[in-house]
Amino acid sequence: MDNLQAVKLSERVFWVGVIDWNLRDFHGYQTQRGSTYNAFLVMGQKPILIDTVKAPFQEEFLARIKSVIEPKKIKYIISNHTEMDHSGLLPEMVELINPEKVFASSKGVEHLNRHFSFSREITPVKNGETIMLGDCRFSFIEARMLHWPDSMFSYFHDEKILFSSDAFGMHLASSERFDHQLDWSVLEYEAKKYYANIIQLYSPVVLKTLEKVSAMNLEFKLIAPDHGPLWAKNQENIIGLYKKWAEQKPSRKALVVYDTMWNSTQKLAVAIADGLIKSGVSTKLMKLRENSRADVVTEAIDAGVVAFGAPTINNSVFPTLADCLVYYKGLRPQNKLGAVFGSYGWSGESLKYLKEMMESMKIPVLGELSCQFVPGQETIDQAVALGVSLAEKLKETVK
Ligand code: FEO
Repeated sequence: MDNLQAVKLSERVFWVGVIDWNLRDFHGYQTQRGSTYNAFLVMGQKPILIDTVKAPFQEEFLARIKSVIEPKKIKYIISNHTEMDHSGLLPEMVELINPEKVFASSKGVEHLNRHFSFSREITPVKNGETIMLGDCRFSFIEARMLHWPDSMFSYFHDEKILFSSDAFGMHLASSERFDHQLDWSVLEYEAKKYYANIIQLYSPVVLKTLEKVSAMNLEFKLIAPDHGPLWAKNQENIIGLYKKWAEQKPSRKALVVYDTMWNSTQKLAVAIADGLIKSGVSTKLMKLRENSRADVVTEAIDAGVVAFGAPTINNSVFPTLADCLVYYKGLRPQNKLGAVFGSYGWSGESLKYLKEMMESMKIPVLGELSCQFVPGQETIDQAVALGVSLAEKLKETVK
């Protein structure tokens, strides 16, 4: 691994992270494009390491650091976030480097000490605190619940770089380090997916944090999150998208999510989608055994209508729907209109479960449809009419 090189980002800042090409599941979030764990070296008079990486990547991480500096010459470590994809090698690095100080937010100090045993104290920094680390001026901004209580941004004044931890990140493995080297549509989708799955629950806090950062009047030549590419050209775009996603305003888009056993629920799903489409609503149909829950909640974030359909099995709901809805409920979606549908053989419990879940999420159920065994033409016509009526309600809501 000695051939691995750090990537120079600016005059004094280097990327020393790692690329996890084969990651396909990040604690239950399906990551078809892999990920990166970004860490940074700031080469001032007193070199600073910002964050570490997942523990299994130690060799790669150290090789990149060594391509710039002997690790023992690092004087400070900043830990922006305790989750172990960023702190996994912190204990090893503290032992190896023996830095003058290790900094974290006050919650970060607490969380780090509940994860690891350190032979030394971690120094807490306050929200808004500005300090000189050698000749480098840093400010720290608490970013509580983006997405843990300890999350923190670090701002390097001299080169106008915001190290934003998980915020503005995405799970995307690539050889390119900067946004403008990659396809925008991929970046937008993966950033949206990251937001929908990791940050969405904390949308009200996102809006407050964006206001707080905006009031500081900082310039961002680079926004450097801990996952995926770094924002060198699209800083305003990604901040604007975060604001849009955090506001959770619905659009004229519908999402029909379902699973099926013998295609009866699928026939209802297709007919509901037909009614929506012919009424001019952009509609997406997602069968859960072919689509991950992570992609479903991504598509749902800007949908004004979410319709869920499930067959009944073993006197209960089809399990992929239960999985998806439990996950979706945890993300506290806002401003949706809903519908439920499904087929059954003889007992028909699935609809009751779907309705209860929608009510628990405070999503009004504007229509419901169930059918025994196989839907005939009359039921298909009712499903199309349900789609049409959902489209009309959506148009009344989203002008
Ligand atoms: Fe990428 Fe919350 O860790």
